[in-house]
Amino acid sequence: MVHAAKSGTFKIGGEREIVRLGFGAMRITGKGIWGDPADPEEARRTLRRVPELGIDFIDTADSYGPAVSEDLIREALRPYGKVMVATKGGLVRPGPDVWNVLGRPDFLIQQAHLSRRRLGVERIDLWQLHRIDTNVPRGEQFDAIKSLIHDGVIRFAGLSEASIDDIEAARKVFPVATVQNRYNLADRTYEDVLNYCEKNGIGFIPWFPLAAGDLAKPGTVLDIIAKKHNASPSQIALAWILKRSPVILPIPGTGKVKHLEENVAGVDIVLSDEDFATLDKAAKK
Ligand SMILES: NC(=O)c1ccc[n+]([C@@H]2O[C@H](COP(=O)([O-])OP(=O)(O)OC[C@H]3O[C@@H](n4cnc5c(N)ncnc54)[C@H](OP(=O)(O)O)[C@@H]3O)[C@@H](O)[C@H]2O)c1
Repeated sequence: MVHAAKSGTFKIGGEREIVRLGFGAMRITGKGIWGDPADPEEARRTLRRVPELGIDFIDTADSYGPAVSEDLIREALRPYGKVMVATKGGLVRPGPDVWNVLGRPDFLIQQAHLSRRRLGVERIDLWQLHRIDTNVPRGEQFDAIKSLIHDGVIRFAGLSEASIDDIEAARKVFPVATVQNRYNLADRTYEDVLNYCEKNGIGFIPWFPLAAGDLAKPGTVLDIIAKKHNASPSQIALAWILKRSPVILPIPGTGKVKHLEENVAGVDIVLSDEDFATLDKAAKK
């Protein structure tokens, strides 16, 4: 039986245990991550299939749609049971494919309250600052997060696209439970941040684990290993990222049941150290 639990578990904030393979809910919206999805029923089916496949960690953001992803999650999955819904704030969306950073503390606080209302929870399990706004002192943004934890609006907090210096500055203000930076087999810019997270027990959530779909297509370095395991390239990309570090919590995104099932089935693949090294070397070329 296909079940995400085979990917192992991780404790968010050292407390809340989740299955490592999660689900990214950005793709259940319209083109340009704007408005309703082209096939809302398929998006709902995909969401309902998530816990059935053993996934108990969903990543979303107020800006996906905006509001569309959070609304659909509530509609399809509330009451959430064991599922932890993590959301993010700190971006404004004036139109399709446009993402502007806004880290004013009053805005961050308002957005967390709105996400809580939309998701229909008393307290958001995990809220992450989508981007650190360079036009606002980062300490003010971290203070806003601290107040959200203090006021019981959110339980755990994290950062996205953060450097080690950002994380260390934030940890002086609130406990950083997760860091969500772009990372996949072909994009290793944040190797240093990943190593830092591993050392400090911080969950590292790699976004674009499939390089926005590029690693799911044939014709990449994944082909040789995929053939050997009778698997798809996306499954090998996920197997590689899961093996890379025990703090990695991948959130492959899809709005299709078939792709979700295929991605979860990938947890059955056990890469040998040799396979891992071959992929590592080929991707670095
Ligand atoms: N923190 C940030 O700044 C940030 C930025 C971007 C994303 N994220 C989060 O990270 C999550 C993952 O990123 P992502 O969704 O952009 O990229 P991704 O997971 O790397 O790739 C998703 C893309 O791959 C396709 N795909 C997924 N599984 C597939 C399969 N088995 N076969 C073929 N194609 C497949 C999807 O299309 P279909 O829908 O057609 O399956 C989608 O276009 C997002 O959902 C979001 O929650 C965070």
